[in-house]
Amino acid sequence: LENGLGRTPQMGWNSWNHFGCNIDEKMIKETADALESTGLAKLGYQYVNLDDCWAESSRDSQGNLAAKSSTFPSGIKALADYVHAKGLKLGIYSDAGFYTCSKQMPGSLGHEDQDAKTFASWEVDYLKYDNCYNDGSSPQDRYNPMSKALLNSGRTIFFSLCEWGQADPATWARGVGNSWRTTGDIQDKWDSMTARADENNKWAGYAGPGGWNDPDMLEVGNGGMTTDEYRSHFSIWALAKAPLLIGCDVRAMSDETKEILSNDEVIAVNQDTLGVQGKKVKGDGSAEVWAGPLKGGGVAVVLWNRGSSQTSITANWSDIGLDPSAVVDVRDVWAHSTIWSVGGSITATVDTHACKMYVLTPK
Ligand code: DGJ
Repeated sequence: LENGLGRTPQMGWNSWNHFGCNIDEKMIKETADALESTGLAKLGYQYVNLDDCWAESSRDSQGNLAAKSSTFPSGIKALADYVHAKGLKLGIYSDAGFYTCSKQMPGSLGHEDQDAKTFASWEVDYLKYDNCYNDGSSPQDRYNPMSKALLNSGRTIFFSLCEWGQADPATWARGVGNSWRTTGDIQDKWDSMTARADENNKWAGYAGPGGWNDPDMLEVGNGGMTTDEYRSHFSIWALAKAPLLIGCDVRAMSDETKEILSNDEVIAVNQDTLGVQGKKVKGDGSAEVWAGPLKGGGVAVVLWNRGSSQTSITANWSDIGLDPSAVVDVRDVWAHSTIWSVGGSITATVDTHACKMYVLTPK
């Protein structure tokens, strides 16, 4: 969507993966505090996004959505003010149907203009728009009206489509939103994460500045995967130009979680302004090579061992779009070390479910 936003994939935090419906204004403020104090905000994680369950179960006497008074007694505008004072942005959530997926609050179907104006009046910066309990009409017919309503709301609002239905949003959503889901919900498990990566990979050609494929939010730090698996998750999401929306409790991160989410060299691949989604170029389900071009002629490469034992993985220059005669500097962005002047190919031994991630710069 050409609303000036999403020139690179969005970065921030969202409440759903860790907290589900257990959200309130105190923990959202503490999360904003933690994004600041941990240094994550400075690295680019700017959106603090509420997911489902922030509103009262019915609209107020004027038909407006209202913040749930038991959990958000100060209201959403006050929360936006708090987040904005830190230089961060506030995101909110609704649904292109009659209710949201939790069924605990109304959806925005038929109330698009009114709700977009409400969000704008609260100075909200981002809307995630879910797909539950709709009327069976096409997603295009349900997501377009909200896109238009946001554009007419008087505030520039990032529009994240959460259309996990069957309608292949990558093929039609570029003019509608700044990102669109390409998969069902992620779970905090290796098999779920790898499946999302593969489903999202099919749509690589549709991503670019202004609109991104979304394989769902990060599970890094939620406890269901190993550190190597979380490094793989983060590396592939970064390479695939996926939104980097943290899904753990940033108030209580382990050092390992913080180290993964704070890797500025991996983040730089995600935020590269060329904006081309890296994709799987070799292998299937075990020793894989994923790669994509970077601004200035460089290439980002992930050697990903999805098999169950340690293995050697090779990326040939012909696999990853480099001239076969090119000599490149190789930067290992997890080891933070540079191997100088390599020609033709790069090979590494990779542990099970781990990856190596490199940035190759032609000399
Ligand atoms: C389904 C979405 O895919 C999830 O990310 C989350 O927003 C839930 N709905 C909330 O009910």
